[in-house]
Amino acid sequence: MNIKDLYIDFFIKKGHKQIPSAPLVPENDPSVLFNTAGMQPLIPYLMGEIHPSGDRLCDYQKCIRLTDLEEIGDTTHHTFFEMLGNWSLGSYFKKESIQYSFEFLTSVLNIPVKRLAVTVFKGNDTIPMDEESASVWSLLGIPKERIAYLGMEHNFWKAGETGPCGSDTEIFYWRSDEPVPTVFDPEDDRWVEIWNNVFMEYDRKSDGSISFLPKKNVDTGMGYERIVSVLEGVNDNYKSSLWKDIINLIEEIANITYQENEISMRIIADHIRTAVFIASDPAGIVPSNTDQGYILRRLIRRAIRHAKKLNIEIESNWEEKIASKIISKYENYYPELNEKKEIVLNILKEEKKKFNRTLEKGLKEFEKMASKKNDIDGYTAFHLYDTYGFPIELTQELAKERNMKVDEKGFQEKMKEHQEKSRTAAAGKFKGGLAGNGEMEIKYHTTTHLLNAALKAVLGQDTHQRGSNITAERIRFDFNCDHKLTEEEKEKIESLVNSWIQEGLDVTKEEMTKQKALEIGAEAMFIEKYPDLVNVYFIGNVSKEICGGPHVKNTNELGKFKIKKEEASSAGIRRIKAVLE
Ligand code: SER
Repeated sequence: MNIKDLYIDFFIKKGHKQIPSAPLVPENDPSVLFNTAGMQPLIPYLMGEIHPSGDRLCDYQKCIRLTDLEEIGDTTHHTFFEMLGNWSLGSYFKKESIQYSFEFLTSVLNIPVKRLAVTVFKGNDTIPMDEESASVWSLLGIPKERIAYLGMEHNFWKAGETGPCGSDTEIFYWRSDEPVPTVFDPEDDRWVEIWNNVFMEYDRKSDGSISFLPKKNVDTGMGYERIVSVLEGVNDNYKSSLWKDIINLIEEIANITYQENEISMRIIADHIRTAVFIASDPAGIVPSNTDQGYILRRLIRRAIRHAKKLNIEIESNWEEKIASKIISKYENYYPELNEKKEIVLNILKEEKKKFNRTLEKGLKEFEKMASKKNDIDGYTAFHLYDTYGFPIELTQELAKERNMKVDEKGFQEKMKEHQEKSRTAAAGKFKGGLAGNGEMEIKYHTTTHLLNAALKAVLGQDTHQRGSNITAERIRFDFNCDHKLTEEEKEKIESLVNSWIQEGLDVTKEEMTKQKALEIGAEAMFIEKYPDLVNVYFIGNVSKEICGGPHVKNTNELGKFKIKKEEASSAGIRRIKAVLE
């Protein structure tokens, strides 16, 4: 049986309810681009809300961590990974949590106790040493020499600067053929961390103070790829059953062996897998130059660059073969992969086509620059980005391979200049429109905010604007959505917008920091492109959006809203054309 199934079965027998993996793109948490841990979607419940499935939960959760993107290519880091987790929301605490973990590892997975060691929190000025956990471990048979006491930086877990947190106990496994040392040295990297049990009893406020949560919770997380490799006795995750056939396929496509270029093969395998999971997520992410879309673009482009290094024929359908294999490996656990297969393959192919057109020329340009200079200046890096579609990270990687540096600050400055220019150009265009026939355009502009809100209400909160274009005659509005709208959906959207128009809602503006705007959940299309202070437009309490304006004063000025056309715009993106009659 698969470890995921064994894990879920075990915790169900211990009174837990299985909850489904949440989408990778958090639904109501603009502070992160992706879920980075199983607990992330559960934050409201750890803070005290009642979970509909009860107070004992378990799952396997899709996660993405991008902090160590540069380390991808080694044997243990992945951008995407699955986390096995179990939670107590005020039900059990340290004793049962540790007992459950111990029982699962030693009785279900049959890991010998002598290969295990643990760390516990040694305490600081405000929080005492975790003697309770240490004594439970001792009673279970972990010898004293295998229990290490560490401080905040190792044995205290927090998801972010604020929110639920607490001390933890981490379980390590001796992954080596050498005899297991009597004394556990957490610095020795042959001891690998396999499971983390966090005892979440505190809430950290933005001023750094810590208070007790309403309940004492447990949050545990075990990296799936890690535990699979451990049990299969491999020192390289890519040699485990999770990756072996994908690596074999890449060997076959590239016609060279894994040993000949391990790093590029790992990067291709890892990045295509992550891209498949991002592209199939319900948020409908497509490659772009912002947020999640930019990550997706970078991953695909980096995979392509490494495919090129392996002399893979870029125009062949190599990426489709790899992605299809990944989909078939995971579809039983994540049905969205199969449901969105066509969209995913299309995204990969289109992005490949786009990048491939300029990749060769860009690489030549890079070589030319690199042979002339000691380092890559900001202008060159921006030129590679703007003309050849090279994400800055790619230029940095190419430079690093030649021991060169990239002036990232200079690049960012050029980028800002460019954005300002295009913003001014866009504003100019808008003003031009206002000078001639401005009244209608202002009305349409306010209508896009209502339409955006109505789409969310009818199609789901993760529906977002992906583009818009306003003339005096109509609005054109793009948004993420995985299906053609039904007549019923269109009618609902129309009648919602019309009801808000009839209600005569006031349109008001408030200036605030970008951070504040995010906190209050204001809609924003390109958040990082906005200055620190932004205007948020409120329409009654149906819409709040970061926007430069201008807008009508009250929705009763708008007239009757009518959708004229609904069609596909690109993969996962639909387009509505609508008018005010
Ligand atoms: N949240 C903890 C972690 O990510 C335990 O799940 O390690």
